[in-house]
Amino acid sequence: MFTCRMPATVCYGENAMDQLPKLCKGAKTVAVFSDRGIEASGILRKPLEILANAGIAYQLLLDLPAEPTCDQAQQTAEAFRKLEAEAIVAIGGGSVMDIAKLCAITADGLCTVRELIDNPALGHKSMITVMIPTTAGTGAEATPNAIVAVPEKELKVGIVSEEMIPDSVILDGEMIRNLPSKIAAATGVDALCHAIECYTSKAATPFSDMYALEALKLIFPNIQSACMDPDALQSKNAMLLAAFYGGVAIACSGTTAVHALSYPLGGKYHIPHGAANAMMLMPVMRFNLPACSEAFARVYDALGETGAANEEEKAMRLLDRMEEIVHNLEIPVDLKSYGVTNDDLEDLVTAGMQVQRLLKNNLRPVTADDARSLYMQRLP
Ligand SMILES: NC(=O)c1ccc[n+]([C@@H]2O[C@H](COP(=O)([O-])OP(=O)(O)OC[C@H]3O[C@@H](n4cnc5c(N)ncnc54)[C@H](O)[C@@H]3O)[C@@H](O)[C@H]2O)c1
Ligand SMILES: [Zn+2]
Repeated sequence: MFTCRMPATVCYGENAMDQLPKLCKGAKTVAVFSDRGIEASGILRKPLEILANAGIAYQLLLDLPAEPTCDQAQQTAEAFRKLEAEAIVAIGGGSVMDIAKLCAITADGLCTVRELIDNPALGHKSMITVMIPTTAGTGAEATPNAIVAVPEKELKVGIVSEEMIPDSVILDGEMIRNLPSKIAAATGVDALCHAIECYTSKAATPFSDMYALEALKLIFPNIQSACMDPDALQSKNAMLLAAFYGGVAIACSGTTAVHALSYPLGGKYHIPHGAANAMMLMPVMRFNLPACSEAFARVYDALGETGAANEEEKAMRLLDRMEEIVHNLEIPVDLKSYGVTNDDLEDLVTAGMQVQRLLKNNLRPVTADDARSLYMQRLP
């Protein structure tokens, strides 16, 4: 039995934002979640104007942190409860959307974000949520997940509850038109990781395969221009859709060792999520080659690539192309550039091995020795 759950309404393309009032489903006051970086970029203006013109009052929550800790998410939840809003509109990257999702399921005040870490079933959504991603991206607009850092564990953890699947999503290319290239690159590689990990996941299903493969078909030809060329609007739109598909793939399947081993890099060294994944992507994919060559070859074929003689060569060429993407996007993949040293290695291995929720999805089993050698590839 396979289940595919996703937001009930997804609006994509030109004028998609005009649907915002309708998606608020009669709410007279909404809380708009975003952050200061997004506010400064000017992209809040249009959705706020649309709300105002529709007679929907809004209150802003703009002091949201990037890559939130569980306690930071809790602080926002408390500020949010005081607003007594009837619905949530989140306009941001994964950080903003994750906080908004947690606020929606703790709005009744019956549990805290910390309690959700051990028991996500405590959360109950009591209002509708509309997500408008501004990065492309985490796909958080499609997933039942919210990721928070737990400082005392020096780790990021995923809280998973179907109650957090947003009600509606607006994918509007205007939101990522001026996304700084460094953020576009890291978040774009995050989407790539979601798609290739889900496609090669032990938890893959026919639903996740379809969304993951479509995401890959959009990402490979578009990611570089979307990140490097400010005028490549078609590519940016393709990445926005691909990131959403990647999120649906996560919701139906699950990521694997790239995300598992990148969580400690975010939790302890505060390396942005996408950059941490970019670092672990190629070591893990090459490690996975013996178990995943058939799946990699299928992706190679689906991309319309030709010339490789057999499955093994197709898989190798796909990995080379992936490595080229990470290289061309100029994302630093050297752990030392983030202040990580060889002395940190054992802590990283211990923390990474704790992420069994995702490691168990990896087609090739990952031992502590394997994790050590994977991290060591980024500690030259
Ligand atoms: N819930 C999920 O399924 C899921 C999946 C993957 C990642 N995540 C989580 O999402 C978080 C990362 O999210 P992210 O990578 O989208 O980045 P982010 O939300 O942390 O944003 C990064 C920075 O980009 C800025 N920014 C965002 N959009 C912008 C725009 N359009 N113009 C200018 N600046 C902009 C923000 O102000 C912020 O400073 C991490 O905490 C990660 O663990 C969640
Ligand atoms: Zn991710």
